[in-house]
Amino acid sequence: MSADRIYLYKRYERFWHWSQAVLVIFMLFTGFEVHGTYHLLGFKTAVVYHTLTAWTLLTLWAFTIFWQFTTGEWTQYIPTIKKVDAMIRYYSIDIFKHAPSPYKKTSAKKHNPLQRLAYLAVLAMISPLIWGSGLLYLFFSSWSDFGLDKYLSLEGVAMLHTAGAYMMLVFVIAHVYLTTTGHTPLAHIKTMITGWEDAEDEH
Ligand code: HEM
Repeated sequence: MSADRIYLYKRYERFWHWSQAVLVIFMLFTGFEVHGTYHLLGFKTAVVYHTLTAWTLLTLWAFTIFWQFTTGEWTQYIPTIKKVDAMIRYYSIDIFKHAPSPYKKTSAKKHNPLQRLAYLAVLAMISPLIWGSGLLYLFFSSWSDFGLDKYLSLEGVAMLHTAGAYMMLVFVIAHVYLTTTGHTPLAHIKTMITGWEDAEDEH
């Protein structure tokens, strides 16, 4: 083991990351079929797969939240505005001049300040929006049992859910683009597969 390598992502972390990626992409794929954007699986099949995947994702999240808290890794998501300006300058200008990143990763602080803010937006805004509207959508037939039909409209819930889906799509696209900004286009992907990051990624 060389000192030039740091162990960033533990085994469970890599497992939840890739399973979540596959599940979220599948949610986007089936969700936009339900929305009517294209016709590939058929509406009914898309709804069945979308619902099944939602429950799988919910189970994965339950385990992952437990893991984040028992390992203390949740502290990695606490936001900071220190160096955010430097990161914005880096991603918009300096990166194209092959300048070094202003942020040095360590296993205790593995997300740069901009990443922290982006993940917080996903955790605190996009996910609650998608899950809240998704569960309401799923249990539409029980709204009257809880008196919710007086306050909610299916169109409104569908619109919120679709808005959340677009935000998730934008996040996935930006996230995949940023994975290519390591010392080689696939360096960050390799790190998320093996857990190890090479020191060259700092340059
Ligand atoms: C990354 C996560 C997700 C994405 C990208 C996504 C996307 C979408 C989209 C685009 C639609 C079509 C909306 C419309 O046109 O009315 C949809 C429908 C739906 N989604 Fe999601 N969704 C996600 C997560 C969830 C979750 C977590 C649940 C439930 C807990 C859920 C439940 C539903 C239901 C019940 C429908 C309506 C299906 C029907 O028409 O019967 N979704 N989703």
